[in-house]
Amino acid sequence: MEGNPFLHPRANFFGPGDGGSQEQLDVRIELATEKDWEEVKRIRLESISGEDAEKMGRDFAKDMQRTDEEWKALLKDPEILIFLARVGNEVVGMGSAARVDSIKQAWKLRWMYVKKPFRKRGIQTRLINLRLAEIRKLGGAKVVTHIRKDNPDSMRNIMKAGFVEDKSLRLWRQRRRGWIQFVKDLGEEK
Ligand SMILES: CC(C)(COP(=O)(O)OP(=O)(O)OC[C@H]1O[C@@H](n2cnc3c(N)ncnc32)[C@H](O)[C@@H]1OP(=O)(O)O)[C@@H](O)C(=O)NCCC(=O)NCCS
Repeated sequence: MEGNPFLHPRANFFGPGDGGSQEQLDVRIELATEKDWEEVKRIRLESISGEDAEKMGRDFAKDMQRTDEEWKALLKDPEILIFLARVGNEVVGMGSAARVDSIKQAWKLRWMYVKKPFRKRGIQTRLINLRLAEIRKLGGAKVVTHIRKDNPDSMRNIMKAGFVEDKSLRLWRQRRRGWIQFVKDLGEEK
C-alpha cells in the first residue's frame, strides 16, 4: 500500500465552502463509545431524513424507530464500529461497520455520511481507512458495502480504497433494484 492511508496531504487544511478556503480545519476522527450515543443518533437521523436519504440504504424505518436505549446498546455492541468525525464540537461525518459473518469474518461498511459543507476534504476517505484498519485488527477477512448505482461520488470513494464490484450472479436481483455490492478482500493484502 502506498503512503499513509490515514492521511490525505491536504485533508485538514480546508474550511467549509467548495473552493476550499485556506482557513485551517482540524478534523478529529474517533471510534464512538456509549457516551456518544446522542451524537450518533443525531447525525444518523440527519443523514436518513435529509436530501441524501435515498442514498443511505434500506434500514431507515428501523433507525427512525430505535429507542434511546437501543441507540445506547448499538454503541456497546462489539460487532458494530461507529466512527465520528468532529470539527471542534460539531460532528461533521460518520462511518460505521458491522460484522455480518463471524465464520467467514466478513464485515459490512455502512452509514457513510459527511455534512455537505465538509465534503471533498478527505473526511470519508479517512473514515473508510480507519474502519478497515480496525476491522483488520479484529481479524476481519472480507469487507462488503452496498452503493446505489446513481451514487458515483461514493463509488469513487470506495474504489480508491481498493474495493471492486462484486459481480457474482446471486446479486443480480439487487443490481436490478439499483444497488451494487462492492467487496474488498483483506486477506489478499497480507
Ligand atoms: C459520499 C460521501 C460520504 C463522501 O464524503 P467526503 O468526505 O466528501 O469524501 P472524500 O473527501 O474522502 O472524497 C471525495 C472527493 O474529494 C477529494 N478530496 C479529498 N481530499 C480533498 C481535499 N483536501 N481537497 C480537495 N478534494 C479532496 C477526493 O479525492 C474525492 O475526489 P473524487 O470525488 O474526484 O473521487 C459524501 O459525499 C456524502 O455524505 N454523500 C451523501 C451520502 C452518501 O452518498 N453516502 C454514501 C452512501 S453509500
